[in-house]
Amino acid sequence: MPLDVVIGTQWGDEGKGRIVDLLAAQADIVARFNGGDNAGHTVTVGSRTFKLHLIPSGIIHPHTIGVMGNGMVINPVTFINEVEMLQAAGVAAGPDRLRISYAAHLITPAHRALDAAQEAARGQAQIGTTGRGIGPAYTGKTSRNGLRMEDMLDPASFYKKMKQHVEEINMMLKSMYRVDPLDENAVAREYAKLAVQLAPYIADTGGLVHQALRQGKRVLAEGAQGTLLDLDHGTYPYVTSSYATAAGALVGLGVGIVPVERVIGVTKAFQTRVGAGPFPTEVFGKTAERLRGTGKNPWDEFGTTTGRPRRVGWLDGVLLRYALRVNGVTELMVTKMDILSGLSNLRLCTAYQHGSQVVSELPMGPANLAPYEPIYEELAGWEEEITAVRRWEDLPEAARAYACRLSEFCGVPVRRVSVGPEREQVVEVP
Ligand code: GTP
Repeated sequence: MPLDVVIGTQWGDEGKGRIVDLLAAQADIVARFNGGDNAGHTVTVGSRTFKLHLIPSGIIHPHTIGVMGNGMVINPVTFINEVEMLQAAGVAAGPDRLRISYAAHLITPAHRALDAAQEAARGQAQIGTTGRGIGPAYTGKTSRNGLRMEDMLDPASFYKKMKQHVEEINMMLKSMYRVDPLDENAVAREYAKLAVQLAPYIADTGGLVHQALRQGKRVLAEGAQGTLLDLDHGTYPYVTSSYATAAGALVGLGVGIVPVERVIGVTKAFQTRVGAGPFPTEVFGKTAERLRGTGKNPWDEFGTTTGRPRRVGWLDGVLLRYALRVNGVTELMVTKMDILSGLSNLRLCTAYQHGSQVVSELPMGPANLAPYEPIYEELAGWEEEITAVRRWEDLPEAARAYACRLSEFCGVPVRRVSVGPEREQVVEVP
């Protein structure tokens, strides 16, 4: 059985959580492969809403095994909190159902302190990191100086390694950033206790996924963040420190070049972004307020992890086509169509203007979008509420036309659109 991969095609927050939840109904294993507790997957099941930052959201289905792959960075405190939250909600989240790769890296309080100090030192040039220590943990990994989950399995050496790790980062905090150092003994003691709690979850997840695929089981890889935040393919340097694109699933799960059947790209019906960086289709004023919402609804455009208001704009078709290309997306799911109800006309960016030049493909990737002015195609909006619609033919004609135009423009079929956050608020596209 091949692997299916779900990825975000924008700057994250596309609503991947709910799409993963939908697809996980047919999966045996749901595996996260990148990032850490900087994700914010939200799944609404009836009256219950689960917000998961670290654990794969597919775990909410009782039949799945959740895998946290080697491409991830794990904050053990968040992990234990999420396990307890799930268990309190009646979702079994013990080591028989949740496995963490021995090769995933640890996030420590020292990483978080360094993240905050580095971001503060950037001043006006801040990247807008979530401050969760993700960047420093990946930096430690690539500089071959990181701590891996497997280190937690040897208590005596782990204590020493933790102490040394905090001492090293303390030197940077003091000398480079003039920030108070952490108490290395206290951190090492705290992490020694966490190691005991996490040890039963640590496993060879690459082997587990490999075996499942050989046995004909269905594995769903759950991407976090989005293509435009990918370390290589995103809007560098305003990116995350991991691979959020589909190929990252293979590296981040350790499965090699296995057959991938579906690469499911999740795109919001409009564009949003958190933090700094160029955003050609950004809108302000009344339209922005309308797209963002007030913050009263859980789905309004305010960060799940940080609470920061998101920047909003019209759907950027140029960036979407780029994202579909770098991921090899085979089908699209368009979320939050319901938010567009009541807008009299909609805009889709189909090309950019740069001086006298018109470009429909990015000549040099998305890192420098600042020179581009969007060129829009105007599309009719619709007045009707669509949150109760479940059949394609019951959607307003303009909503169907919007989804069809997207398929046509991108050359990839839109398979589903979602019209609300609930599990059943999804419309299949024939
Ligand atoms: P990251 O991995 O952090 O990028 O997040 P994500 O892509 O998993 O986004 P998330 O699942 O957190 O979804 C964002 C919000 O949109 C959540 O509150 C969802 O419940 C909500 N949501 C998803 N789909 C829809 C939809 O079709 N309509 C409405 N109104 N809300 C939706």
